[in-house]
Amino acid sequence: MTKYVVANWKMNGDLNLIKDYAQFFQNHHLKSHLIVCPPSPYVWASIGAGFDVGAQDCHFAESGAHTGNVSAKMLKELGCTHVIVGHSERRLNHMETDGLIHKKAKAAIDQGLIPIICIGESIEDRENEETEQVLMSQLKTSCPDAKTGFMVAYEPIWAIGTGKTATPSDIEKIHELMRTFLGDDIPLLYGGSVNAKNAYTLINLKNVDGVLVGGASLKLDEMKEITDLGGS
Ligand code: PGA
Repeated sequence: MTKYVVANWKMNGDLNLIKDYAQFFQNHHLKSHLIVCPPSPYVWASIGAGFDVGAQDCHFAESGAHTGNVSAKMLKELGCTHVIVGHSERRLNHMETDGLIHKKAKAAIDQGLIPIICIGESIEDRENEETEQVLMSQLKTSCPDAKTGFMVAYEPIWAIGTGKTATPSDIEKIHELMRTFLGDDIPLLYGGSVNAKNAYTLINLKNVDGVLVGGASLKLDEMKEITDLGGS
């Protein structure tokens, strides 16, 4: 099965990085389904560059007095296929709740976009042995009721940008929980310090349909390797 590779540039990258990505991916037969999520000013320039394009967030309203926000409708009009919602950096730095993320995911689906809903436990949750409880609560409240039309990324907060990844057995345990709850038609991604060295192991774990890559996605050489894996 084709694996997903989602590149989350966060507030990084520039037009040159898009050009470099386009030069390579437009002329390369992809073994993975690549979705690149640049900062919103670069979305337009990324369309048609040889991969699907996603945004990093959207507002739940179609339009209105929401200074600084973009709507799912606008993203769809530009040619986006996906949008990340509920990334832990949005949850923590912008006080986003599961209820708000649910509304954003629903707005995305209503506009024909595929939301990539992120969930993840903090280091405190982990130390208190509350990981499963926290994740199930996030899943139940932030995901739409539908059985298809969205993706979920498990990203332990303590693994993001730290060089630490969850162990294969922990990831398989969490992904099995998610699979049981969400069914077979929701692609399940793992994110948190994924790079060219560990991607092969991570992408081939049971119930892992792909990876969400942050820091390493800013290095084209790493992305060439990760997107070439395709799963075994
Ligand atoms: P990272 O980020 O790969 O740099 O850990 C992943 C993410 O936050 O999406």
